[in-house]
Amino acid sequence: MDHSLIIAISKGRIFQETLPILERANIQPTEDPEKSRLLIIPTNQKNIKLLIVRATDVPTYVQHGAADLGIAGYDVVQEHGGLGIYQLTDLQIAKCRLMVAGFDKSILKSKDKLKIATKYVNQTLEYFQSKNQLVEIIKLYGSMELAPLIGLADLIVDVVDTGKTLSANGLKPLEHICDISSSLIVNRASLKLKHKIIKQTFGALL
Ligand code: ATP
Ligand code: PRP
Repeated sequence: MDHSLIIAISKGRIFQETLPILERANIQPTEDPEKSRLLIIPTNQKNIKLLIVRATDVPTYVQHGAADLGIAGYDVVQEHGGLGIYQLTDLQIAKCRLMVAGFDKSILKSKDKLKIATKYVNQTLEYFQSKNQLVEIIKLYGSMELAPLIGLADLIVDVVDTGKTLSANGLKPLEHICDISSSLIVNRASLKLKHKIIKQTFGALL
């Protein structure tokens, strides 16, 4: 019986907010990924390792079983599509909102095709299709707020927390698409094959 558990996690806010949760499950990383260059981080439990990956890549590692478990935002899981993945529990961390933002709400009444800059291509298409609004998507990987300022797009779709990044760049939140938090996700095969060890380790959180 395989008792090993591999957990995919991203550095930065998710790692910081997950540390106390891992602690509650008696998992302590032996290295700080913010300082170490190691990408496979051992923990105090010999059978549990952390994979340090980009936030957007967490569902991919879990889908393919390269990681048994992962911690990922709802935005990222939705964009990935969730194939082969089961959401074990909402950890209520890294909370934010997926929003449409721009200079002014009036542009949303436009009959013309709107140019939207985002890294959330699928969710943006789905949202505007549901409103029967024609859109052209401009795929970006970050600094979305720049696009309307420089005339690359009319609007952006991005995550918003305090709204400070939007206001610092003269933009406003215009429409709320969905609330976001991060979940513990699991590979569907691992959930069956490693049910016992997953329950033993994370039972208190479920
Ligand atoms: P990648 O490195 O793959 O491009 P990223 O830079 O978006 O991803 P993070 O900034 O660490 O990665 O964000 C991880 C998750 O945290 C996001 O998927 C989202 O769910 C949430 N998040 C993003 N920005 C905020 C924020 N400002 N406040 C709270 N939660 C946020
Ligand atoms: C995220 C997001 C926004 C900002 C929103 O960026 O892309 O730019 O947070 O947060 P606020 O509403 O509190 O200002 P992040 O800080 O994660 O930078 P990154 O996307 O470049 O990693």
